Amino acid sequence: MPHDAVIMQTLRAGGLLPPDADAVLEPLTGGVSSEVYWLETPNGPVCVKRALGKLRVAADWRAPVERSHFEVAWLRTARPLVGKGVPEVLLEDRDASLFVMTFFDPATHAVWKSELAAGRIDVAFAGRLGAMLGRIHAGCAGSSEIAEQFPTTALFEDLRLDPYLRETARRHPDLAGRLTALADRTAASRISLVHGDVSPKNILQGPEGPVLLDAECAWYGDPAFDVAFCSTHLLLKPVWKPAHTAAYLESLATFHAAYRPAVGWEPQAALETRAAELTAALLLARVDGKSPVEYLQDEADRAFVRGAARRLIAETPASLGELAQAWARALEER
Ligand SMILES: Nc1ncnc2c1ncn2[C@@H]1O[C@H](COP(=O)(O)OP(=O)(O)O)[C@@H](O)[C@H]1O
Ligand SMILES: [Mg+2]
Repeated sequence: MPHDAVIMQTLRAGGLLPPDADAVLEPLTGGVSSEVYWLETPNGPVCVKRALGKLRVAADWRAPVERSHFEVAWLRTARPLVGKGVPEVLLEDRDASLFVMTFFDPATHAVWKSELAAGRIDVAFAGRLGAMLGRIHAGCAGSSEIAEQFPTTALFEDLRLDPYLRETARRHPDLAGRLTALADRTAASRISLVHGDVSPKNILQGPEGPVLLDAECAWYGDPAFDVAFCSTHLLLKPVWKPAHTAAYLESLATFHAAYRPAVGWEPQAALETRAAELTAALLLARVDGKSPVEYLQDEADRAFVRGAARRLIAETPASLGELAQAWARALEER
């Protein structure tokens, strides 16, 4: 039964708990970079998230706790655009790198990754996610006011570009030129607000649609990164659970189809090309980068992803649809 004086003090000071009240913190599992709890308050349950300085992953990987504030800023920016599609921030204690948000009951809000793994695959849900991501990107594109709130290129470099793209470049010297150029180009782009971790483990499947959590990698840069990050997860799922291949690939196509019409800030084809390039690179990064997906342990699976991803990096299809088709063919030929 954890009790935390700093958290209690923040909750009391913010008026979420009465001055003399105490509460029990119930840990929520699944995260690697933060302490996340829920607790009962007189006005109902809330969720507390505090950033940790060291991520709980195999490699030693430190991340400045200031990222907590940028998660809050992302949530506050996205909320008016997508309503209950993201938690509402109830309170921030920036000095303590923690914030309080609305809590979504796990009884009615399953983690999408678990649903996908269990083969309970709602293709339309992926479409709602794509539309929601599109609303956020479209609503934030071309805004210097929003860009100024996210001076996080160095954080994004440390949390995303280096561990995924540059680390993979170091391990694949023959592809290093392409991967480094991709990382450099991405780092230099300032197009819209990026979530940075659109992964099924950070998405809840609720009765009112998707809820997108965990915006610690928030950055003003290339929205194609979010599309690519989520696409990568959906492309890797068939390697993990081949029985559901068709439903995963259909979910991916539905996600793309729902996202695409939101792209009004630039030609759709331009975004698609960058998303395809990033997806190919991230597929390889998820076996050979600093943060490999935990569900591909079998060396044969990893070798398959490595080979297919390397081919897609060497010759990247011009669109996500073509990339998905090439991946589907590789899966069939396995
Ligand atoms: N507001 C919330 N309501 C309900 N569950 C949540 C909420 N925020 C986080 N969680 C749960 O806690 C897990 C970890 O939270 P997350 O923000 O992803 O932290 P981390 O950065 O450590 O991954 C999530 O996968 C989700 O299951
Ligand atoms: Mg998470």
